[in-house]
Amino acid sequence: MRQKVVAGNWKMNNTLGETKKLLKSLKKELKGLKLVDTRVIIAPSFVNLQHTVKKTENSIIEVSAQNLHQATNGAFTGEISVDMLLDIGVNTVILGHSERRAYFNETDEALAQKVNTAIGSGLDVIFCFGEQLEDRQNEKHFEIVESQLKEALFALSSEAYKNIILAYEPVWAIGTGQTATADQAQEMHKFIRSILAKNYDEKLANSVSILYGGSVKPNNAEEIFSKPDVDGGLIGGASLKAKDFSAIVKSI
Ligand code: PGA
Repeated sequence: MRQKVVAGNWKMNNTLGETKKLLKSLKKELKGLKLVDTRVIIAPSFVNLQHTVKKTENSIIEVSAQNLHQATNGAFTGEISVDMLLDIGVNTVILGHSERRAYFNETDEALAQKVNTAIGSGLDVIFCFGEQLEDRQNEKHFEIVESQLKEALFALSSEAYKNIILAYEPVWAIGTGQTATADQAQEMHKFIRSILAKNYDEKLANSVSILYGGSVKPNNAEEIFSKPDVDGGLIGGASLKAKDFSAIVKSI
């Protein structure tokens, strides 16, 4: 049985004060909710991680970082290491988000190293990938997705996938309000399972959770999540509102 996951990527939003407020509302909205085989994860900025970990103890909410550095320590000004995250009780990290790839030049090669570092230390990784609009228009979306997965993940052992959650995020759907249709998400997720099966085996392909991300909102989550190969969502904008995020969680 694959785990379902709803993860909120807060990106560069929320001061400490705003984080406190949002956490309070979120805990209220999700109180008493009983979920089976489902993880609810939020990813605040680095500076608010420690507070969030503390405030979500004894709740269904888990906490993820939005990035880490591939080196374990050293002269990398401004960066955050895996041990720093583990030390404050963070055990998941988002890697490969399209904003990191586009604005911070994260290459497939660097991402492969980051994934190795994270997995090697026992962190769970939410690994993001997805095509640009022109890739889809040129019918290159399957090719691009296969190459992103191959370059960053396919050198990993089968064992490593116990710690990997995939997040298919077509770049044209992120923050644009233009979501992929549920059928487009299903088509790509099925393709992703087929390439996992080809490179590993059927059992592994069926065990990995694959999330969809890109303009998931309370009014479209249920339809997207109803697809057989969609195991949940990575939510940006709508994760900043307690009511919207919890409505999405409840539609899983
Ligand atoms: P969005 O962001 O929900 O605002 O489109 C998704 C993401 O970037 O993960």
